[in-house]
Formats: sequence, structure tokens, C-alpha cells
Amino acid sequence: MKSDSPRILAIETSCDDTSVACLEGMTVASSVVSSQLDGAKFGGIVPELASRAHQANIVHVVRRSLAEASWEISQVDVVGVTYAPGLLGSLFVGLNFAKGLAYGRGIPMIGVHHLEGHVLAPFLTDNPPTFPYIALVVSGGHTQLLMVRAIGSYELLGTTVDDAAGECYDKVARFLKLDPQGRSSMAGPMVDERASSGRADAVDLPRPMLSSPELNFSFSGLKTAVLNFIKGRSLNDLEVNDLCASFQEAVTDVLLHKTMKACQAFGVDRIVVTGGVAANSRLRTAFADAASRHGLALHIPPVAYCTDNAAMIGITAFFHWQRGEQSGLDLVPRATMVLDHKT
Ligand code: KG4
Ligand code: ZN
Repeated sequence: MKSDSPRILAIETSCDDTSVACLEGMTVASSVVSSQLDGAKFGGIVPELASRAHQANIVHVVRRSLAEASWEISQVDVVGVTYAPGLLGSLFVGLNFAKGLAYGRGIPMIGVHHLEGHVLAPFLTDNPPTFPYIALVVSGGHTQLLMVRAIGSYELLGTTVDDAAGECYDKVARFLKLDPQGRSSMAGPMVDERASSGRADAVDLPRPMLSSPELNFSFSGLKTAVLNFIKGRSLNDLEVNDLCASFQEAVTDVLLHKTMKACQAFGVDRIVVTGGVAANSRLRTAFADAASRHGLALHIPPVAYCTDNAAMIGITAFFHWQRGEQSGLDLVPRATMVLDHKT
């Protein structure tokens, strides 16, 4: 390899956004996220349509990312790509593009686990965490607490036993008809916005598993409680705001409580919160308050690096490259795969 800071082209297509980033070592030269609008017609992500849209978009998004970085494709040294977990058809598009590039140009390809990307996203900032830290990954597909002891050393401490927190946000937005475009990436922000004008103590909602000793989560009961509250009522704007604020408070309470419990149980004083739900404004302030009260270091990436993006895949590929690792071109995508390996 030519330098200590290889030019990495990173591709992320695990769900409905086509994302491509260019990194020079750990420095982001460009990060492009192209969102799909298919959900507008179908009330959610349709896997078959998502993979087709990735197929149509991928070359354009790669070109845009290269242009924003002022790179030629011939200057790329390493290609990083998400290979798990996610929608299989969507993962295939990114992975096959990466393979073509790696094979055609004779450069290494590094397959990246999407959740490892989220967990390492704070290394894209000027204030990266030191090890060990407790990572709370909260997204549309996952709600997990992990012990991160080093790059490549991840221990799953707790996970949701039913819905992910983001999924719950998306369902509540749908019940309240707040996401007219049917896009999950818009659902959480819509609830967040409505909640900012509501009262968090207006509706009494459950905090599932709050007092159970384990570090697992459950959100389906909360989702059902919101649905039951809405049933038979015609809510005005103020009541919708109150319900959103109360729901958001319940989710945040559970996430915060379990994260603090994990810190205590393992004697760790550093927290990373990452994934799409980490963009939530109440979650950010609640964690910041708790961290300062308990003297904990808190790292929440900027919103653009919390939600799905390829820059986090690029920096994870960089760390693997530093360790001399690369993937075979026979790598296949995996729909589900737990990030839990110790080195
Ligand atoms: O990490 P992400 O972009 O994709 C997955 O890997 O799932 O997370 C998407 C999730 C969606 O459920 C979305 O509603 C939620 O993150 N989200 C939010 C906010 N922004 C995105 N949830 C609450 N408040 C937000 N501001
Ligand atoms: Zn994600």
C-alpha cells in the first residue's frame, strides 16, 4: 500500500439509502447519502424496490462522491462495503459493485458489519472515545448495548426482545399519520419535531423492562400502549404533540436507564450512543444531562453520522486495513448477523 492514509471508497446499501463516502485514512473527503422515495407510495420499504433503486442509483452516487472529493476512480486504494446485516437484495448491489471495483482495479475489498460502522462512527469526529466504552446502538433495525473493548472486540450485553426503538418510532409516526411520505428516515424526525412542542408527562405510558435486572429491551408493549391510546380518539394537534413527547420520554427513559446500568455493572465510564435514533433531540439532552451528573464521558456523533451513512463504513474499513485484514471476493451478504466477537 502506498501510504498510511489510503484512499478508501466506502459503500453502504444495507437498507433504503444508497450511501458512498471517500476517506483519506480517517479523514472524510466526501459523504453522500441518496434517499429513496419509494415508501411514499407503499407505506414503507419494499425490499424488492429498494434493491432496484440501489441498482439504478449506485453509479451516480459513486460518481457524485468521487466528484465531491475531487478524486478519480483510478486513485482509490481500498474499497470498503457493508455486507451484513440488512436487506439481502440491497446488500447484494453494494457488495457486487465493490467486488467489481476491487477485481477490476486489483485493490483490496474490506467487508464491514453495519453495526460495527455505527459503533465506530464517533471516530469520524474530533473527539473520539477511548476504550473501553459501552455502545448503545439504536436504529430502525437494532437496539443493542455492547461492550467495546478495542477495535474488533465487541460483546453483546443486551438487545431488544421484540421491536427496535427506531421501528417503534416509525410505527408511532404511522399510527399518527405523521409520515405522509412513508419513509422511515422521516418518521423519527417527525415525532421528534412534534414532541418539541408537547408535554412529556401528558400521557402515562409504560417503560417496558425498566426494572428488570437484565440489559435487554422491549418496545412492543409501549407501541401497543400508544396504539390503544389513539384508538377511538380524534386527537387535535396539541394532543398529538403531547403524545409524541410522552412516547419519546418513555423510550428515552428506558434507553438511558439500561445504558447507565451497563456502565455500572461493568465499571465503564465512557458511553457512545449511535444509530438513527441517536439523532433524537430528547435522547441527546437526556444522555448529556445524565453523563454530566454521573461524571461519564459521552460521545454521540453528529446527526449525519448517526443515521445510515458510508463514512462510518469507510472508517471501519480503515481500521481493518490497518490490521492487515481484507475480505475474499467470495464474500456473500448476510441478512442477520450479531456483532459479537472478542479478540
Ligand atoms: O441507523 P438508521 O439510519 O438505519 C438503520 O440502520 O435502521 O436508523 C433509522 C431509524 C428510523 O427508525 C428513524 O425513524 C430513526 O432512526 N430516527 C429517529 C430520528 N432520526 C432518525 N428517531 C427518533 N428521533 C429522530 N430524530
Ligand atoms: Zn443503521
